[in-house]
Amino acid sequence: MQSVDGKNFLNIAVFVSGTGTNMQAMIEAGVPISLIVADRPCKALKIANEANISTALIERTNFGSNFDREEYTSRVLHTLQTHNIGLVAMAGYMTILGNSVFKEYGGRILNTHPSLLPLFKGDRAVKDALEAGATETGCTIHIATNELDAGPILAQRAVPILKNDTVEILHERIKKEERVLYPEVLKDILSGNVALIS
Ligand code: GAR
Repeated sequence: MQSVDGKNFLNIAVFVSGTGTNMQAMIEAGVPISLIVADRPCKALKIANEANISTALIERTNFGSNFDREEYTSRVLHTLQTHNIGLVAMAGYMTILGNSVFKEYGGRILNTHPSLLPLFKGDRAVKDALEAGATETGCTIHIATNELDAGPILAQRAVPILKNDTVEILHERIKKEERVLYPEVLKDILSGNVALIS
């Protein structure tokens, strides 16, 4: 399937930083993945290697305020172009990328976030929902833009917050839903049931 600018949607890159259970769910659901990109050594890379999927570790070593986001993003962009990637699925990728990637891949970068956006944006979404005393939260699959966790929403699933929940227990309940929803959304895009708009 060709997008308007000729990049092949079937060439999907999944971006990871951690345990990679969403990525694993995509693999198990039969989502065709051309490349796994990680910003740090992580369990997800090990799973990708075991599944014989190409990997690229574009390591981020600077987590300080002087991190050169655009320089890092240009390395990411170069990797995507080298592999002729048409669609990016961020799955627990914990580096915020710079503008250049959104210019080049506008409308074709997806993300999953562990809350019902627009509620609880940012990297403490599960903790924030618990601390706010919310009775439910969930997950959101959305198109990523250069505004963090604010791009168009493609799908959401709610989960209850239970009395004795900890961040870990609640996050795992959310991830259980993400692992079903994210592959479904990707398959809908690949089959043309969901259209992406740049
Ligand atoms: C997922 O819950 C995802 O929503 C979250 O990281 C987890 C990754 O789990 N992403 C973010 O918080 C992004 N801000 P996984 O590595 O087991 O797939």
